[in-house]
Amino acid sequence: MSLFTSIRKTGLAVGVLLFAIVTLFAVPVAHAAAGDVKKGEAIYQKRCWWCHGKKGEADGPAAKFLIPPPRDFSLGVYKYKTSDPKVQIPRDEDLFREITTGMVGTGMPKWDDILSEQDRWDVVAYIKSLTDMFGKTPNPPQIDVSKKIKSSPESIEKGKQAFQTAKCYECHGQLGKGDLTKKLKEDSGARVWPRNFTKPWSFRGGYTAEDIFARVSNGIPNTPMPSFAADATSSGKLSVEDRWNVVNYVMSLAEPTSQVKDGQNVIKGLRRDALPKDENDAAWNEAPSTAFYLAPQIIQNDRFFTPTNDLVKVKALYNEQDIAFMIEWDDRTKSIPGDPTAETIAWDTLTPDQIAVQTPIVMSTGSEKPYFGHGDAGHAVSMMVWNSGTTTTPASGTMMDYTGTHKRTQTDPAAAGFSATGSYKDGTWKVMMKRKMVTANKDKDTQFEVGRFIPIAFANWDGSNGEAGSKHTLTVWNWLLLQPPTGKEVYLVPLLVLILLAGGQLVVANMLGKKRK
Ligand code: HEC
Ligand code: HEC
Repeated sequence: MSLFTSIRKTGLAVGVLLFAIVTLFAVPVAHAAAGDVKKGEAIYQKRCWWCHGKKGEADGPAAKFLIPPPRDFSLGVYKYKTSDPKVQIPRDEDLFREITTGMVGTGMPKWDDILSEQDRWDVVAYIKSLTDMFGKTPNPPQIDVSKKIKSSPESIEKGKQAFQTAKCYECHGQLGKGDLTKKLKEDSGARVWPRNFTKPWSFRGGYTAEDIFARVSNGIPNTPMPSFAADATSSGKLSVEDRWNVVNYVMSLAEPTSQVKDGQNVIKGLRRDALPKDENDAAWNEAPSTAFYLAPQIIQNDRFFTPTNDLVKVKALYNEQDIAFMIEWDDRTKSIPGDPTAETIAWDTLTPDQIAVQTPIVMSTGSEKPYFGHGDAGHAVSMMVWNSGTTTTPASGTMMDYTGTHKRTQTDPAAAGFSATGSYKDGTWKVMMKRKMVTANKDKDTQFEVGRFIPIAFANWDGSNGEAGSKHTLTVWNWLLLQPPTGKEVYLVPLLVLILLAGGQLVVANMLGKKRK
């Protein structure tokens, strides 16, 4: 045996051994570990009680600020269970998973960075002890996932049909964006919004096919989301096969542009001779889209912790005269005060939906940005606002400038050539705002300049969620970069790179050629 083959064999043996070790140590993480109730109690009474309550009855001091409300552990009813639909209690792994990852879009934090794995199992044991639902019943088995159907165009098509038969669209909308036709409540009476399937990151019970299969089969206890298992008591039922198909369909709806990418904070505006006519103009399809998270406004008075909208997507196009923005956001409700359906779905006094674009009036040098509230005395900001109107007043746009919170003056939209149009379809608002690149009023309006990083921020109001005035969501400051027209400078850089690369390849080719000789 040559030295080479023997090294290879040892390598293989080491590899197999490593694999065995890794597998051995990886397994326990997935399985329920025994938790210590006493230790769990200490952790709970330090970390969890202020939301979930001293006795786990969901009555901690923070509970009243939260929608959805914290789980009441005295009831033993959990939302995200992967146990068999015939069993009412969740698996220990389900509780462990929710504690580890937290629950997006709710007050429930993730704990993997604060509590060790053993701590989390201990606290699982403790919260189980707060109800007699679990009794001495052993940890139930996982729902049978052995008949899994792999995703394929055929399965997705069948799933699309099952989505209709099972009437998923009644709550999740025809395109899966969770746009509502009726008001939904938890059993507790709290407000609940169906999930938007185009945003995988907003799922609370995991996003593997197995997770979603468990969800469709078990429903989400304590909410209107029913169980679709064949032996379920609810009306809508789906065969095991159709449940897998509908899972594949749900996963096919994920929309990559509705995801904030790491480090993505620049809207790239492109130069076009003719700008789009309105928000539905096909010309927008060529413009790159940038997504930003919306967070609730919690700095000024009328703080607010229960937002519904979570993301805006923005595009920009410009020419010598004008700049146009396309702002798109998923909103489960078209909030038009006076509209009977909108009035019944709203949770609060119904106000119009609104979107605002904020840019500085005086451009600072370097990386300094105005105060992100509404600017300040030395750093005035300009605001373009669109309002969806009511049944008696049409949708409209306004422009104003701010030199700090509540220090607002109306500016002349005509002088800035400002216009705004919007439309709502299948759970999404699209609004186009257009204005002049530069105006005569340099002290009142932002002057847009090509090739410069311009700070830009957005604010959004969901009128069905009682959002008005300072009760709204907003993004942090991001950047707008109007890219220079594809002139010489732009071609030059890629050309240089190409020449360098070609040169490099020649050098490598030369070296290889020499070796071969
Ligand atoms: C800041 C408030 C807050 C704190 C602190 C908090 N939770 Fe929660 N928790 C919530 C809310 C709100 C929900 C309900 C989310 C929902 O219904 O979607 C929840 C839900 C849960 C669930 C239910 C999962 C399910 O499938 O139904 C578990 C388990 C849980 N919390 C455990 C804990 C533990 C353990 C701690 C402490 C280590 C803790 N929570 C701390 C707010 C909190
Ligand atoms: C009667 C209303 C209703 C119907 C019908 C309904 N859902 Fe839901 N669904 C909801 C609600 C409400 C939620 C969110 C629950 C929460 O946040 O507590 C939800 C959440 C979900 C989730 C999110 C799970 C997660 O991890 O976050 C999935 C997946 C889902 N539904 C799939 C479906 C499918 C597939 C159908 C049809 C087979 C369906 N739903 C039918 C109301 C409904």
